[in-house]
Amino acid sequence: TDLYCVFGNPVAHSRSPWIHARFAQLTQQPIVYARRLVPLSGFTQDLQCLIDQGGRGCNITVPFKLDAAQAAHSRSPRVELAGAANTLVIDAQGRIHADNTDGLGLVADITRNAGVAITGKDILLIGAGGAAAGVLGPLLEQNPRSITVCNRTFSKAQALVDQHADLAKTQKVALLAQEQQALQGDFDIIINATAASLQGAGIPVPASVLRAGSLAYDMMYGPAAAAFLQWAQAHGAVGRDGLGMLVEQAAESFALWRGVRPPSSQVLQELREVLA
Ligand code: ATR
Repeated sequence: TDLYCVFGNPVAHSRSPWIHARFAQLTQQPIVYARRLVPLSGFTQDLQCLIDQGGRGCNITVPFKLDAAQAAHSRSPRVELAGAANTLVIDAQGRIHADNTDGLGLVADITRNAGVAITGKDILLIGAGGAAAGVLGPLLEQNPRSITVCNRTFSKAQALVDQHADLAKTQKVALLAQEQQALQGDFDIIINATAASLQGAGIPVPASVLRAGSLAYDMMYGPAAAAFLQWAQAHGAVGRDGLGMLVEQAAESFALWRGVRPPSSQVLQELREVLA
């Protein structure tokens, strides 16, 4: 039996142990997946602990994704671009490889589970923190027509865009930053990657960004996503929460660790029933 875990602070609410236990059951993989609360300055120490116990991998959640990228011996191109890792793969010699499956999870949930194509579309990405940085590369790889990044702090949106300029050019995607307060235009897909709802703040963008039938996606789920979904529906858009992204990023991590693709759509359906 191989050992995996999720590191975070807080981590008590994490659904990852449930999701990976279910994946393991359905694919008959011999793993155990634990939950570990890491002190804010204790990430490196706790990671070494996992390695000493023979652990073969972990997921990383807030606020350790940058530390995880730095602690690894090797990094996927996605991690180099985002500067953050949500998945570590540990080999039998204790060497650590960092990857980031958040963006793949978002793309899989939008295209496969929600059935909405990204290719050729106009996308608005709200936010420029770690969550936004983790998904911009994989979104660009889907060849949308354009991606506009806006953020409360404009300079961070501009920096994120600059960092991805080469990839955008290769993919022939128009990538630009806009002032959040003076946002122009409307979009096919609007993705909320901010922590605004956790701060009790309102919706960070005007309703004019929505078209009838737009997909308005919040990377959060549960009560944290409720206001954004309500706002979307009230303006004729289709709201979707981030539960599917959570399950799909987990599936990508599981596939990296075990070489086996779990039935993620089934597990998403089950998780929705559990949380209902
Ligand atoms: P995460 O890793 O979850 O992205 P983060 O790096 O702290 O966390 O980023 C949080 C994001 O939510 C940022 O884009 C932040 O905007 P700033 O860059 O201006 O800080 C955004 N955010 C947080 N609180 C917000 C609020 N009340 N209104 C609008 N945006 C907010």
